[in-house]
Amino acid sequence: MTAVTRNDYVVRAIRPDDWERVKQLRLDALRDPVAHLAFLETYENAASKPDSFWRDRAVGSGTGSDTAHQFIAEAPDGTWGGSVTVLLEEPGTRDWAGNPVERRQGHAVGVFVRPEHRGNGLIEALFTAGLAWAWQQDAERVRLFVHEDNTRAQAAYRRIGFAPSGLIVSFAQDETANELEFVLERPS
Ligand SMILES: CC(C)(COP(=O)(O)OP(=O)(O)OC[C@H]1O[C@@H](n2cnc3c(N)ncnc32)[C@H](O)[C@@H]1OP(=O)(O)O)[C@@H](O)C(=O)NCCC(=O)NCCS
Repeated sequence: MTAVTRNDYVVRAIRPDDWERVKQLRLDALRDPVAHLAFLETYENAASKPDSFWRDRAVGSGTGSDTAHQFIAEAPDGTWGGSVTVLLEEPGTRDWAGNPVERRQGHAVGVFVRPEHRGNGLIEALFTAGLAWAWQQDAERVRLFVHEDNTRAQAAYRRIGFAPSGLIVSFAQDETANELEFVLERPS
């Protein structure tokens, strides 16, 4: 069988009627062996949420939203290989940790590529779409937080063009560990 390359995927924003697949991808991500480093939510917590939560998420991060966009990559066989969500943060507001937001910026969260789709550049295709949406929203930069021990994700982010900003925050799931802020400035 010919290997699937990044060009074989269709990368697109989710639509409201995708909610069941949004839920399935998230639950699968939360069962990944590195989920404890990668995500702030547990599988049990996500699995207990009612369908209305996932319907709302598919609307709130879908094609009609101007505050968040979730991008997925659909393989030729219809599988969703991975996903990136970009949240738009506005100056004068506070971020999820309660810290003030000083710039109009994107915040990438929920970054996940299924294990059998890793290493083929799909993560770059997802970020190409996510970053383009952020720039369309006039974001000055896009940031994300990555666990200090998640070296695979850090390598992927550096390849895409992100760099550590120097901001280090304690990891919400384990105060003895840290997360690093990585930033990519809008190209001039
Ligand atoms: C993070 C993730 C999206 C990256 O996608 P990917 O397809 O695996 O990324 P790539 O393989 O293209 O790039 C990863 C880099 O790490 C390297 N790498 C591979 N395995 C590695 C490992 N076990 N440890 C460290 N680096 C590793 C790769 O060689 C590559 O480096 P390169 O760019 O110098 O060639 C994916 O691994 C994933 O979904 N991980 C689980 C969830 C997660 O960690 N999400 C991020 C939360 S912040």
